[in-house]
Order: sequence, then C-alpha cells, then structure tokens
Amino acid sequence: MLKRPLNPLAGELNAILSRDGCAAASLLSERGLRAYFPHHGILGQGVDAKGCAINATLGTAKEDDGSPLRLQCLSDLLAIPDASFLYAPSFGVPELRKYWADAQLAKNPSLVGIPHSLPVVTNALTHALFMAAQMVVGRGEKVIIPNYFWDNYDLIFNEAFGGVFDTFPTFSRGHFNVAALRRKLLGRGEKKIVVLNFPNNPTGYTPTIEEADAIQAAFLEAAQAGKRIAAIIDDAYFGLVYEKGVFRESIFTKLANLHENILAIKLDGATKEDYVWGFRIGFITFGMKGLAPDQFKALEDKAGGLVRSTISSSSNIAQRLLLAAYGDPRYEEEKSEKHATLEMRYREVKRILRRHREYGESFTPMPCNSGYFMCIKPKCVDAEALRRHLVEKYSTGTIMLDGLLRIAFSSVPTDKLETLFANIDAAIRELKKGGA
Ligand SMILES: Cc1ncc(COP(=O)(O)O)c(C=O)c1O
Repeated sequence: MLKRPLNPLAGELNAILSRDGCAAASLLSERGLRAYFPHHGILGQGVDAKGCAINATLGTAKEDDGSPLRLQCLSDLLAIPDASFLYAPSFGVPELRKYWADAQLAKNPSLVGIPHSLPVVTNALTHALFMAAQMVVGRGEKVIIPNYFWDNYDLIFNEAFGGVFDTFPTFSRGHFNVAALRRKLLGRGEKKIVVLNFPNNPTGYTPTIEEADAIQAAFLEAAQAGKRIAAIIDDAYFGLVYEKGVFRESIFTKLANLHENILAIKLDGATKEDYVWGFRIGFITFGMKGLAPDQFKALEDKAGGLVRSTISSSSNIAQRLLLAAYGDPRYEEEKSEKHATLEMRYREVKRILRRHREYGESFTPMPCNSGYFMCIKPKCVDAEALRRHLVEKYSTGTIMLDGLLRIAFSSVPTDKLETLFANIDAAIRELKKGGA
C-alpha cells in the first residue's frame, strides 16, 4: 500500500504496466511505483518551444548568436560540437541510445527478435545499479546474490534501499553454483530479486555455456512455479571473456523473453567495455516476455524520471565523445588491441600458476575465466594480515574481500605479474612461519 497519493502520471504508467495481468508493476518497489517522467513539466514545455523565434524556456545560457555561452579555454580543448555544452536529454542522446541498442544486438545475437526497451543512459553502472535497486527493492526485501560480489552493492542494495542480501556460495566444485541459485529462487515468498554479475567482480568468473543454460532453466522453473522475479544483470565487464566454452553473451539474453513473471534489467556501459572509467556513461535496459511497446516505454519513462530526479541528465560531452569514437573507423581495431592486452595478462597469470606448482602450498586460486580480476584463497594465513604484509614488506597492493585476495591483473604490467605472485607466495610462507 502506498502511504502518499500517487502522481497521476505515475498512476498511468503503473496502469500500463499491470494491464492484462502483466506482472511488471507488481515487481516494483514503492519508489518504483512512484517513478514517472514529467513529460509536461519544464522539459516538455521546452520541447514545445523548440524552433520558436524567441525561446526563453530552458535553464541554459546562449550567446547573442544563439550558440551556447561558453568559455573558449574549454571549447578549445574539444573537437566536438559546441552543442555538447548544453544538457543532454534525461533519457540520453538519442543517437547514442540507438547506437547502443544496435550494438547490443551485434554483441548478443540471441537478442535479435526479442522485444526489449531502448537503453536509457545513466551516470555509468553505479547509477544504473542504484536506479534498478530503487525501482524494485523495498525495505526488508531479500536480494538473492552469489556470495562474492562487488562491495559497493552493499551500499546500494542494503544501505540505500534497505534490502537484505540472501547469499549463496558462488561456486560448487569449481563451477557456478546453479543448484544453490535454484534453491533460492524456489524458496519461500513469491517476489524474488536476484543480482547477477558476469564477468564477476571479484572472481573474474563467467558461467560456461552449460551453466548459462542451467541458470535459465532454474529461472524458468521458478517462474512456472509462480515466482515473480526481478533479475538485475550487471554487465560491467561484458566482452572480456578469455576461454572457449564460456558463455559470451549477456545472461540477459537468457532471461529477457523467458517468462511473463521475469523482469530482466540489464545494466551495462562504456566504463569498462570502452576503457573510459571517468566518462560516467552507462545504460539500463528492460526485458520481459509479453510486454507491448507502450509497456517497455512505460519502464523507460520510469527510468528517465529517476535519472531526472537524481542527476537530471548524464554528461553530454562524454556521450558525444563516445558517439564520435563509435563512428571512427579505428574503433574496432583499437578496442581489440586493448582486449588483447588484458587477455595476455590473463594468460600470463594462468601460465605462472601452471609453472609454479609450489604456490599450491600457499594458496588456492579460485575459478576465473574472464574480466579484470582473479582471487586466491590463502592457506592457513589470515587474508587481511597477508594483504598488509604485502603492502609493508613487498610494496604489493591487493584487495582483501571475504577471506580472499583479489588481484587485478588488468592493471599490472604483464612483466610484473611473475613478481606479484612470487611476492604473494613468499609473504604467505613468512606469515606461516610467524615471521611477519
Ligand atoms: C561489478 C561492477 N559493477 C559496476 C561497477 C561500476 O561501474 P561504473 O564505473 O560504470 O559505475 C563496477 C566497478 O568497479 C563493478 O566492478
């Protein structure tokens, strides 16, 4: 039950999203139900005035010649149109949304022919995660998640929106633990919220093709059993897969058109895919079987409204720069070069671990086949003590998470990886001897 009256525009969207028994509205949190885009507010009135001889609508400033009022010292730095100084629409620059939608089909061929929303531009993935949580997580609701996850999830899902993580062991015998996910999906309660992130931070794991099929089967079984599921899919590291047999598309492709009870929310972006961490451009896209175009549009409107109420709009400059890069003939080749650099480091890590069997006395490497990171589990040594010892004695930085050390091979020059692992091994042996 909503405690305050709903804005009529939100009411209209909710009616669209619950039409003909559609489950989408029933998966929304109170904040999700309240979300709407103010099409008739300042922005809408500004659109009406576009093309007027005198336009005194929008909160930007113009030179007397009508171009954006701007500092020359800034525009001299930019080889993109001066219009980039103005606001982007809350939904994102239309050409970029279209490009990203098409690019998703090229990167995820199984999505072709599956209806889904257009992507809405966010202030990178963190903001997209925040919005997804805002839309579906109610206070005290459980959020099913593998036990190894990016630590910022805690701030977003738990601290900001009062969710409660319901974790399951990520791995079982070296594989993604589909059986545990299935048990959680089939557990008590009708509404389920699940967060999946592949390639995973911190483990660098992506399910194999068989595991991805099994994940899909588990979702289908739960949905057929009457569970209504919001699946939040964090594709931050999409594309960085290094092994054969690993599922190369987004798990979104497996869920977006699976069952009328499953709302799949895809979060992705340029941050890691295009090596632009500081640009802050991401996307949120919705998929659900049986939704009509106006229902997808209603979800986009809710997302657009949440963008408007948090950051108003994402950086226009960053969106224009990305569009220019996507249209540049060098883009694909340069992108594969960077992929090759990361893959080389991944292969070097695997080679080091194969060559140094003695490291098995110090630590166990966790399953890893993709992404930026790999994790090790130190043997008989406290992971935090190890992390500190590595910083103090070996000038080697790693991250301690949940009793594991996370190693970002993505950011270590290939020729330093050998020393990195030798340092870890030596530090563990010293700590075991009590020589820290
Ligand atoms: C799994 C995961 N999701 C999301 C993010 C955040 O991405 P962005 O920088 O685009 O907000 C990160 C960043 O480290 C991440 O590891």
